[in-house]
Amino acid sequence: MITRRGLLKFLGGGIASMAALGSYAFAIEPLARLSVTRYALTPPGWSPGLKLRVVALADIHACEPWMSASRIASICRQANALGGDITVLLGDYAAGMNLVTRYVHSSEWSKALATLEAPLGVHAIMGNHDWWEDRTAQKNSGGLTFGHKALADVGINVYSNRAIRLEKDGLGFWLAGLEDQLALVPGKKWMRKHMQGLDDLDGTLAQVEDDAPVILLAHEPDIFPKVPSRVALTLSGHTHGGQVRFLGHAPVVPSRFGDRYAYGHMVEDDRSLIVSGGLGCSIAPVRFGVPPEIVVIDLG
Ligand SMILES: [Fe+2]
Repeated sequence: MITRRGLLKFLGGGIASMAALGSYAFAIEPLARLSVTRYALTPPGWSPGLKLRVVALADIHACEPWMSASRIASICRQANALGGDITVLLGDYAAGMNLVTRYVHSSEWSKALATLEAPLGVHAIMGNHDWWEDRTAQKNSGGLTFGHKALADVGINVYSNRAIRLEKDGLGFWLAGLEDQLALVPGKKWMRKHMQGLDDLDGTLAQVEDDAPVILLAHEPDIFPKVPSRVALTLSGHTHGGQVRFLGHAPVVPSRFGDRYAYGHMVEDDRSLIVSGGLGCSIAPVRFGVPPEIVVIDLG
């Protein structure tokens, strides 16, 4: 027999736990938590003796109150303490959301990111939101977004279908950065019927001139089935691990492959992909089961 008191207690408890869960997903997980997720691997074809620690930051989505310039600077301080040889930024610096109290200008978030330090430098690619929030770039169907310019202005290397050769302890490797696969939105005013990518995987990899291993930076993991085994490791963000994950499964993932590349280390035909769950939020300020993370990858 359900009494009125029992029912009210039950409902009250339900509301309280829903409220607790809500405040956790809206305030605590997106704002207060920061994880360091570590991977260690020796990809096939990796140079013997080349020990490389990569620190990766993805999907910052600068906006207040969720991701202020001071929070970005604090994340950078923690990233700097992780002993990386090289730091990579995997795109989506722009807000990507309307639920903000203030937009953080590209000159502010780039200044915060300029505090990143690594012996082999800081290297960045752009994400879809960096393109989507730049009307001039949409109108021009390409060129440089305000994100490209802001990062270059603070001395961060920005890659748009470009590969460069770096060395550690006299051993070489290539860093290749792909331009965004969802850069140009469809719309009458842009005279585009479909979403259009500006990625050029073949053109990027054609710049690789020797047998040294290749690390590919690609904001969206959807390129992965096309990445040849010549690439030792592909690093992506974009999915936020689905942003909401229950028991290791994300119900909604912005990928045409669904959950397949949502989060973590995937190996297909000896090719490796690591997808970061990222740091910020897009669309809505919610994260659950996938706390903001800095990724550390030990190669070698
Ligand atoms: Fe993205």
